[in-house]
Amino acid sequence: MKDLYSFPHDFTWGAGISAYQTEGGVNAGGRGVSIWDEFEKKKSIRNKHSASVACDFYNRYASDLRSVKWLGLSHFKTSISWPRIQPSGKGNINKAGADFYDRLTDEMLEQGIEPWYVAYHWDLPAELQKKGGWTNRDTVFRFLDYCDLCFGLLGDRVNNWIVMNEPLVFVGAGYFMGIHAPGRRGMNNFLPALHHVNLANAQGIKNLKNLGAKHVGTAHSFASIHPSTKLDVDIKAANRVHLAINQSFIDPMLGYGYPTEKLPFMKKIERYWEQNDGQLLLASPDFWGVQVYTREIVKYAWWMPYIQARIISAKSRKKIVSSIGQEVYYPALSEVLDWFIQHKASDTPVYITECGISMQESFLEQPFDDTYRIEYYQNVLETLKPHIQNSNVKGLFYWSLMDNFEWAEGYFAPFGLFHVDFKTLKRTPKKSAEWVRNLLGQ
Ligand code: GAL
Repeated sequence: MKDLYSFPHDFTWGAGISAYQTEGGVNAGGRGVSIWDEFEKKKSIRNKHSASVACDFYNRYASDLRSVKWLGLSHFKTSISWPRIQPSGKGNINKAGADFYDRLTDEMLEQGIEPWYVAYHWDLPAELQKKGGWTNRDTVFRFLDYCDLCFGLLGDRVNNWIVMNEPLVFVGAGYFMGIHAPGRRGMNNFLPALHHVNLANAQGIKNLKNLGAKHVGTAHSFASIHPSTKLDVDIKAANRVHLAINQSFIDPMLGYGYPTEKLPFMKKIERYWEQNDGQLLLASPDFWGVQVYTREIVKYAWWMPYIQARIISAKSRKKIVSSIGQEVYYPALSEVLDWFIQHKASDTPVYITECGISMQESFLEQPFDDTYRIEYYQNVLETLKPHIQNSNVKGLFYWSLMDNFEWAEGYFAPFGLFHVDFKTLKRTPKKSAEWVRNLLGQ
């Protein structure tokens, strides 16, 4: 490590991508349709972009893994596409889809890269959505069957499992705001989805551990929440937002239950509650994945339904914003860790399972000059220092190995260390890739 303090020698350094954002090959090998394929058809993606080819990782994985090695990283995180291995979300494994993950895993191991697989990074089979998707309790059971398939396929070679990626985002954006697949809105979709996802997440962890998986965790997104003033009403408003976005998806697992006292709208979750759910929601992962992209400033707003609070956008606060409108605020991750490490009240290790930024270099004349990204990482790593030394933060995965399909933003928001030309699919290391390579002493 040249320009930073030393990280422990056993610190895990990795890079990540996800299946839907990079693989393409949506019709290859009998893959089923996912809710994101359907969402795209409704022209819900910025510039009507599509992930049908994306980075073509489906065919180019071997050379992309060589890029991981080139960076000096020996851990790689991606997700399994549920509809690729179980096209309708039910029944036997799809052999051709399973073969892809077989080949991918073998290639990682051959290249000396340790695989980390996310079981669910948002691409629910569309067939399950026809029956309500995560609003339907049956999806929990479908998900557990699917986890069995994943472990049966790769469990002999893969130690590291992340059951879900960012439940807050796919439930909040997909079942409350309608801006992500499957495009559902409102509390009547949000509450059942919240509860069923929490059940699936906890049961998924237990299931994989029972099957013999060695290192099982789950990854959550958090934001650092600040009140807009020191007034009591704003502090309380910020606290409600904190509970809603940072705690609703972890507290049931930790045994704290849903924060219904301060968020009375959540009481309606009782409608979806069955006997023993309190037990079923508990789980002790081997590690927690923490993903933090920004901070939010919150103000009391009596007219806002449910929460009587509003987030003041970073743009209106005249802050530097990322290409997806988030404030660029380096201490966010360490502020969240300060809180989370205390809140979880255990020694369970933490991995920063995503860490990244995007400011649209693809549209600049010098698309490889992402000096701002280097600055971002330098500053974030600096703020991590006390946590690396004093707490159980064990690793960090750069998001992302390469530019990819950024969900509702399409290709508008490039997060990669490698630039991808989406016409030719050529990959080129950006300045930040050189920096990562240098940092690790290549
Ligand atoms: C996360 C998500 C990733 C990626 C990233 C950048 O919320 O897990 O898939 O999109 O944000 O915005």
